[in-house]
Amino acid sequence: MKHFLEIDDLSKEEIAEVLDLSELVAPPRVLSDMSVGLVFEKPSLRTRNSSEAAVYQLGGLPVSMVSGEVGIDKRESAEDVARTLASYHGFIGARVFAHSTLGRMAKAIDAAGSETGIINLLSDHSHPCQALADLATIRNHFGFRPGVKVAFIGDSNNVARSLTIGCLMMGLVVAVGSPESYGFDDAERARFQALGSVTFFSDPGRAVDGAQVVYTDVWASMGKEEEHQQRLRDFVGFTVDSDLMSRASEDAIVMHCLPAHDGEEISREVLESAASVVWEQARNRMNVMRGLFLFMSGVRPRS
Ligand code: CP
Ligand code: NVA
Repeated sequence: MKHFLEIDDLSKEEIAEVLDLSELVAPPRVLSDMSVGLVFEKPSLRTRNSSEAAVYQLGGLPVSMVSGEVGIDKRESAEDVARTLASYHGFIGARVFAHSTLGRMAKAIDAAGSETGIINLLSDHSHPCQALADLATIRNHFGFRPGVKVAFIGDSNNVARSLTIGCLMMGLVVAVGSPESYGFDDAERARFQALGSVTFFSDPGRAVDGAQVVYTDVWASMGKEEEHQQRLRDFVGFTVDSDLMSRASEDAIVMHCLPAHDGEEISREVLESAASVVWEQARNRMNVMRGLFLFMSGVRPRS
C-alpha cells in the first residue's frame, strides 16, 4: 500500500499489523532524516497534534500548513501542490474538503515517479486515521470478538463510513442509526452488507439495543455548518444521553471522535461517564499514526 486514502486500503491482516505496531514501546526511528508535510484545508486539534507528535517520535520533522496558507486549487492546483510537497517530504498528510482532491494528489505523485505516500487526514468522504484509533480502542476493550456490536448514532458521515467499513472488516457487528434523510444510500448499504453484519435504523434506540460500543459524531460536519440549525431540528431524538445508553449492553463503552457538542449529539453527562473512553480514543490517534508511519515505511510486527 503506497497511499492511505480509506480504511480498506489496508487488508484485515494489515489493520491488525498497524494496531500491533502502534503499541511498540521503542519503535525504530524510521523517519529520521525525513520530513512529513501535513496540509490542512479545515481546522484540526487532534489530527494535527497526533500526527506531528508521531512524526517527532519516529525521528522525523513534521511541517504543518493550515487553512488558506497553501490554497489547494486556489493558489495552485492540487496536482502542483502534491508534486512540490513530494519533492521535500517522505509522506504527505492532507485534510481536504473534497475526497477527490486526495486521489488527484496521489495520481500526480505517482505519475511523477515519486515514492511519497499520501495519507488522508479527513475528507468529506472518510476519516481512516480516526477509524484506526477507533479500532485500537475497541480492540483494547473487547478484542475483535465476533458478535461485539458497534452502534453508530447520528449523521452517516465520513467518520461513520470509515468506522463501519473498519469494524465490518474486523468481524464486528454494526448498527447505524440515522434520521431518514441522513442515512447511507442503497448502494453503500449493499456494499457494507457484502462486508459483514450491518443493519440500518431510523430509530436510534433500536440501533443501540444491546450494543457494546455506542459511537457518535457531530451532526453538521466541517463544510456543512450552514445546515446546523436545520440539522438540530432533524436530529431530535438522536442525542446519545443516559436514556439512550440504558438500551446498550451493561458493559458498553461510549466513543466520540471529538470535538463534541454538549446536548447535541451527546450529553455532557454521558461524555463524562465511566463508560466514556473518548480520551483514550484521542490518545490512540497518536499511537496509530506511529503504527501507520511504521507500516508504510515497511516495518512489520514480530510474529
Ligand atoms: N477527531 C478529529 O479528527 O479531531 P480534529 O478535527 O480536531 O483533528
Ligand atoms: N465528521 C466530522 C469529524 C470531525 C473530526 C467532520 O468532518 O467535521
